[in-house]
Amino acid sequence: MGKDVIIACDFASKEATLEFLDKFTDVKPFVKIGMELFYAEGPAIVKEIKKRGHKIFLDLKLHDIPNTVKKSMAVLSRLDVDMTNLHAGGTISMMEAALEGLTREDGTRPLLIAVTQLTSTDQERMENDLLIKEPIDKVVMHYANNAKIAGLDGVVCSPLEAGKVHDTCGKEFLTVTPGVRFADGDKGDQKRVMTPAEAKKIGSDYIVVGRPITAAADPVAAYKRCCEEFIG
Ligand code: C5P
Repeated sequence: MGKDVIIACDFASKEATLEFLDKFTDVKPFVKIGMELFYAEGPAIVKEIKKRGHKIFLDLKLHDIPNTVKKSMAVLSRLDVDMTNLHAGGTISMMEAALEGLTREDGTRPLLIAVTQLTSTDQERMENDLLIKEPIDKVVMHYANNAKIAGLDGVVCSPLEAGKVHDTCGKEFLTVTPGVRFADGDKGDQKRVMTPAEAKKIGSDYIVVGRPITAAADPVAAYKRCCEEFIG
């Protein structure tokens, strides 16, 4: 499985997204499309970016009853995305149904990645709001293992957790890690960050990088720097 840098295209409109992607002429980066852009522009934006030759991680974090998730995943699969995701909290049955829905008639399918506990959920919120009393690290690893049991390809996690996920679920189980910053860059609202080189060392398979590239004076140079540090 090839390591890659995924650019988080957190733009609110098609125009802003395509204007950004137009800057990339000799390379076609793997891009992440999230809820904001997808809900604003619909499947057309996925088709347009795909047509331009980019790989797409569609980050919609599905979580519903297994039957609904299965049917929705079948729709996303037909959009020809390369990677998509769901909440592991939807249970193993939901994840298995998602995989079934995602698998095309010819047996191919996009990569399917689970979100464990969101990084916005801390121990206190998990205990008080969700009534989950176990330590959050244990919950994250348990959810990652459930995703593996269901047959998923990996999890979204902090680069700081990537090593432990590989120890628990195996080296082949993918870790897709946001929270990446250049050593000389602005951390913004991310608290626990790693450089692309550190993420490489710890064994992240894909890094998801937004503002260090999208807000850079020269996004193409920032993307290339990221690739050099992470992929080498
Ligand atoms: O701009 P920045 O590099 O912080 O963007 C990181 C991307 O990864 C954003 O799209 C953000 O929503 C996403 N993400 C994250 N932390 C998580 C899960 C997803 O930053 N735990």
